Amino acid sequence: MKLFIDSGNLHEIESLVPLGIIDGITTNPSLLAKEGGDARAIVKRICEVVKGPVSAEVVATESGAMIAEGRELAKIDDHVVVKIPFTREGIKAIKALSGEGIRINTTLIFSATQALFAAKAGAAYVSPFVGRLDDIASDGMLLIEQIVEIFDHYEFGTEVLVASVRSPMHIVTAARMGADICTCPAKVIDACFNHPLTDIGLEKFLKDWEQAKRGK
Ligand code: G3P
Repeated sequence: MKLFIDSGNLHEIESLVPLGIIDGITTNPSLLAKEGGDARAIVKRICEVVKGPVSAEVVATESGAMIAEGRELAKIDDHVVVKIPFTREGIKAIKALSGEGIRINTTLIFSATQALFAAKAGAAYVSPFVGRLDDIASDGMLLIEQIVEIFDHYEFGTEVLVASVRSPMHIVTAARMGADICTCPAKVIDACFNHPLTDIGLEKFLKDWEQAKRGK
């Protein structure tokens, strides 16, 4: 399973990329607005740091305007994937832009039919928001199970990108279900590095090693 960072923050991205296990980045208008400044310049810089797929989202809502904005976003860098929300207008834009060879990440997916329609329109990725479903007492990971199962029956070539991840358990469940990608906030990736038994174990190894050396 590929691991993406869900962030528009260059500092977070630059601190995690050297791990060598980050495959791409997802941003959204809220994340980029939080950073302030020139969003296009931030996306360009992220592309240079990561050298993998970087999702940048349109803010237009009418298909013609989405298509025009998507083409402009795609010009920022070869790594840019254009993120388009799942709406009737969005589906038309996905069909048109995919036909031009522009990779699309369909965002705000909350049902299996939305994922199926996006795949049929030619989207490279679908982004089901698991955390936001959990937030309303719905089962986000059940949606991932359904989409993975449906996509397994066909040859869409659309990847399941688990988004709105809130905890390491979302990553575990996504991997068990065979999702293609999990995009995580930096704090969730950081949390995966915390395990008391690893800390205790390492401390003991180093202590034993030093004691043995002193005994020689
Ligand atoms: O980037 C889309 C998605 O991951 C947003 O997550 O935490 O705002 O629901 P969240």
